Amino acid sequence: MGYETLIVDIDDHVGVITLNRPDALNALNQQLLKELAAALGVMQENEKVRCIVLAGSEKAFAAGADITEMSEQSFVDMFSSDYFTAETEAILRCRKPIIAAVSGYALGGGCELAMMCDFIICSDTAKFGQPEINLGVIAGIGGSQRLTRFVGKSKSMEMHLTGRFMDAEEAERSGLVSRIVPAKKLMEDAMATAAKIAEKSTLATMAVKEAVDRSYETTLREGILFERRLFHSLFATEDQSEGMSAFMEKRSAKFRGK
Ligand code: HXC
Repeated sequence: MGYETLIVDIDDHVGVITLNRPDALNALNQQLLKELAAALGVMQENEKVRCIVLAGSEKAFAAGADITEMSEQSFVDMFSSDYFTAETEAILRCRKPIIAAVSGYALGGGCELAMMCDFIICSDTAKFGQPEINLGVIAGIGGSQRLTRFVGKSKSMEMHLTGRFMDAEEAERSGLVSRIVPAKKLMEDAMATAAKIAEKSTLATMAVKEAVDRSYETTLREGILFERRLFHSLFATEDQSEGMSAFMEKRSAKFRGK
């Protein structure tokens, strides 16, 4: 499939999707989100891909939803098309781990997109924010909910109400990102991290994703039960037996996703 707003590549077992609308700082329009949903669907189906990196440019991961496109929409347009809903649900359906590699601006829908990924590695130049308030609107694809869960109510509320940006240090300190790396090393680091994940059992990585995500959706007791059942079920896999045998034989495991 040809993409106009993305660059899509597969490097060994890592799928790499780069947002590519440089003239608009990777602003998210309907075409881009549709292409992103489609690209993730293709990677989900491709057995070779075991982990995915989603990146933007050095200046911007994505500076938000496309304001030019949105400015022409009425309530009826937004409501009847359920703007961005099908696309974001398709992104969230991907069962393989997705790392957001964020450099520069991740604002509005860009910050929300990064938070939809499984974790965020950012460069020291990253700036996160939910500045929709400056446009007379609010976050629309999860920002008010996800940012609050990441950084807590006080900081999330302040960011949504004032539209101020958070730099990389603050983002790491408050739990929004897992790590900061120098800008020039961002892709190298994200790819190495993805390659490390790609060496694991894909059955176990998919189970981790389901279990950790479940912690946002349910009570502690139900979440722990869900984890325990997944843990037990992995004892039906060849990868469990390979992983434990390899440890005892003092060699590296060769996981086959079986
Ligand atoms: C459309 C955008 C854009 C956006 C930048 N551009 N952000 N176009 N939508 N979100 C375009 C600019 O118009 C400009 O085009 C080019 O990208 C470069 O941007 P500049 O503003 O010239 O760059 P700079 O001065 O470096 O400022 C960078 C910036 C600023 C601070 C990121 O661009 C900015 O504030 N952008 C808007 C951020 C924002 O409000 N995001 C939230 C959107 S609402 P030209 O043609 O002039 O060169 C949202 C809702 C989500 O995301 C909910 C969805 C359902």
